[in-house]
Amino acid sequence: MTISGHAKLAGVVGWPVAHSRSPLLHNHWISTLGLEAVYVPLAVKSEDLEAALRALPKLGFEGVNVTVPHKEAALKICDTLDSAAKRIGAVNTIVCREDGTLEGRNTDAIGFYESFKDVTNGDDLEGATAVVLGAGGAARAIVAALIDLGCDCIRIANRTDERAETLAAFFKDEKVRIEAVPWDSRDDALDGATIVVNTTSLGMEGDADPQVAIDLAPLAQGSIVADIVYTPLVTPLLAAAKELGHTTINGLRMLIEQARPGFEAWFGQKPPVTKELVEMLMTDLAPEKD
Ligand code: ATR
Repeated sequence: MTISGHAKLAGVVGWPVAHSRSPLLHNHWISTLGLEAVYVPLAVKSEDLEAALRALPKLGFEGVNVTVPHKEAALKICDTLDSAAKRIGAVNTIVCREDGTLEGRNTDAIGFYESFKDVTNGDDLEGATAVVLGAGGAARAIVAALIDLGCDCIRIANRTDERAETLAAFFKDEKVRIEAVPWDSRDDALDGATIVVNTTSLGMEGDADPQVAIDLAPLAQGSIVADIVYTPLVTPLLAAAKELGHTTINGLRMLIEQARPGFEAWFGQKPPVTKELVEMLMTDLAPEKD
């Protein structure tokens, strides 16, 4: 890879950020498309987020992705927002404008929507009840996607119960029943549900808390269990769901789909989703790689 003084810059801002496969993904696209650009991990603590984001246009960055735990905080810092970021209340993609301002966008919902459509073969989820674990920036996008997929009822359970209540209230004007359920009642919330989505970081490799403690027994046969965590590809939650015969969705397709609009905005080219790309990511995420 040649990096001259003309190289375009982008990256991912998070804390921690080392688990992120966004650099691998974007740099693969940069190299296959023959662009002179580079995408770097940017480990930024919450207290430094505003200064770091404000510095991006000054450093010549085209923009960044935003990941855990900064998606909601980034929304407040951006100067303008696209309609998805406004609806969701979180930002996962920032485009630096020529005048030095930051435009916040959200592509997580469309990423999740696409990964769900893969398994439902385009059928919508009319009448379905979904349980969302977590109430952070990613959860907001998942709730929006579940509404768009046709769910009738969404139950949100979060370790910090008030955050689940805030999220339910945020979506109160949407045509769907949204309720916060206490974290301690999350098993009971599965009663009557056919969809479960983990949007917390639980289950991620290296996390101090290794997995989402939830008993999937109350879930109806043939339900769909999705996890936005993709390190590992098969999280303990997905392994438990597979064991019970449910359909599972890992976080890989969402990772790829949420990345594409940002890449196009920064580098001016639509990045392709090829078999080679998916295989490269799956090999990197395979447990036996070490
Ligand atoms: P993001 O913007 O990527 O969603 P976030 O806003 O920090 O990141 O959200 C992380 C989510 O994971 C939150 O729902 C968080 O729960 P709290 O709101 O109680 O913090 C959840 N989470 C993180 N660690 C957790 C843990 N050990 N147990 C349960 N939930 C956890």
